[in-house]
Amino acid sequence: MDLPTSKSTKEWRETTARKALSKGAERQEKFVTSADNEIPDLSTEEDLSAFNTQTQLGYPGEYPFTRGIHPGMYRSRLWTMRQYAGFASAEESNQRYHYLLSQGTTGLSVAFDLPTQMGYDADHSLAQGEVGKVGVSISSLEDMETLFNGIPLERVSTSMTINATASILLALYIAVARKQGVPLARLSGTVQNDILKEYIARGTYIYPPEPSMRIITDIFRYCADELPRWNTISISGYHIREAGATAVQEVAFTLANAISYVQAALKAGLNVDAFAGQLSFFFNSHNNLFEEAAKFRAARRMWAQIMREQFQAQDPRSMMLRFHTQTAGSTLTAQQPDNNIVRTAYQALAAVLGGTQSLHTNSKDEALSLPNEETARLALRTQQVLAYETGVADVVDPLAGSYYVESLTNQIEAQAWDYLHKIAELGGSVRAIESGFMQAEIEQAAYQYQLALEQEQKIVVGVNRFVSEQESQPVLQRVNEAVEKQQVARLQALRQRRDTNLVHRTLRALEHGATGQENLMPLIIAAVEAYATLGEISDTLRHVFGEQREFHHLSSI
Ligand code: 3HC
Repeated sequence: MDLPTSKSTKEWRETTARKALSKGAERQEKFVTSADNEIPDLSTEEDLSAFNTQTQLGYPGEYPFTRGIHPGMYRSRLWTMRQYAGFASAEESNQRYHYLLSQGTTGLSVAFDLPTQMGYDADHSLAQGEVGKVGVSISSLEDMETLFNGIPLERVSTSMTINATASILLALYIAVARKQGVPLARLSGTVQNDILKEYIARGTYIYPPEPSMRIITDIFRYCADELPRWNTISISGYHIREAGATAVQEVAFTLANAISYVQAALKAGLNVDAFAGQLSFFFNSHNNLFEEAAKFRAARRMWAQIMREQFQAQDPRSMMLRFHTQTAGSTLTAQQPDNNIVRTAYQALAAVLGGTQSLHTNSKDEALSLPNEETARLALRTQQVLAYETGVADVVDPLAGSYYVESLTNQIEAQAWDYLHKIAELGGSVRAIESGFMQAEIEQAAYQYQLALEQEQKIVVGVNRFVSEQESQPVLQRVNEAVEKQQVARLQALRQRRDTNLVHRTLRALEHGATGQENLMPLIIAAVEAYATLGEISDTLRHVFGEQREFHHLSSI
């Protein structure tokens, strides 16, 4: 058999490839990624002619960490299987956490209801109809003790998806740990605490940007001193992607926000290596498997460079992009819900090929409701099969060296840098948000995606192709309607029972501290330990900081 001669890709296209195309055109007119980048018919070594393996790829556990932040990655330790859960009352959520731990989940992830996220107690008029709906209702230390009843906080890491009221939930968690006798230095977990993406994409903010950033940097400082194992923020691209952003925008806008947080902490007088090792990230894992894996690798390389070059970090831990991933909720369909099991499995594979530290896999019914026990278990089993049966966890960064994946990683990185330079020109991410730049970019991307769906350039199996006529109705998790009444009654009994003078003293001290420049964390901890409620603490801060109204985008003026 003739050995292949050294042929250029151009020659291959003009001979072998052209001959095949003469027999029939490609399946689609063009193939594109989520960022509308043309997918080449073939990637070859010519695409990597400028690629420097030493400086751009490197080794796992070494700068720029493209191949992963740990030398052994999942050969040493699997990613944390951290299923997002929480609904109704603290008792019901506590039962679900015990169930998930019994099924093999290796980290907790708390979902809070909207009143808790927005700083309203369960008995506030604005909480009506929302108590316990999209997450667990937490108004007081009593609720928080119930939520973690029987769970040893020195042995479990807990993520809390909480932003505007992150300081209060962290204070509540610290108060529970103290009651369990756990040294604060042993506590590990995360508060999402990422208010900028709330302004961009999710909307659960309370205060204007400046006081919000002050609360966030107070958490950075407090945890640098008292909770060295706590992740002080989970800078999120997930929701930005869910709002319709492309993979490139997800990386760029998340890193732009991260840069703003680092700048705010430095401005507050913190040393970069004193807090940067406790920053963490949260990304989406979407449908295009290679684009998603390349996205994570590009983000890791960019963050390492930003922290070393722009912020002169010295400690390698400050340069490691440590992240959690959730599979893409926006890709889940109400039609043929079993298809969601398959989508989630591929998306989980992309996250693992991309080197995630922690992972949530969506349940098949989450387009319709909160997961029930059976669908939550299957979502966890999806991770366990991936970890223990596919062999993917046995090799570090297996996609490295792939002509296509390395080219895609480079392309995503280059386009994300273009956005970062544009955002820097606008004055940073807060200014870019206030001007509506990021929101406008996301809206444009979302519109293009919707158009592609309607024109069937994008296929969603079961929705715009391969549809079923008749579908059986799945059994859905229902939130117990009585939970609101129970929560209100419990809260009013607490108010009767507690030391009202002590509550008022702690709230007055908090108001005084907020008016000045004191670190708010110790004041909030004292308030929650006096059984002041989340709503009372939030109102005290509203009184000092005011509330952020909707941004009036320059782009829409
Ligand atoms: N070799 C050596 N050591 C390793 C290792 C390896 N391969 N892998 C891990 N380790 C070590 C780590 O260094 C760490 O050691 P330490 O405790 O001494 O620091 C320990 O093992 C635990 O590893 P990680 O810290 O990486 O894992 P965690 O799971 O604890 O933390 C995280 C992961 C990303 C850093 C953290 O911030 C986290 O858990 N984030 C989760 C965020 C989350 O769950 N968010 C949910 C959002 S849902 C939402 O937003 C709402 C909805 O709308 C989607």
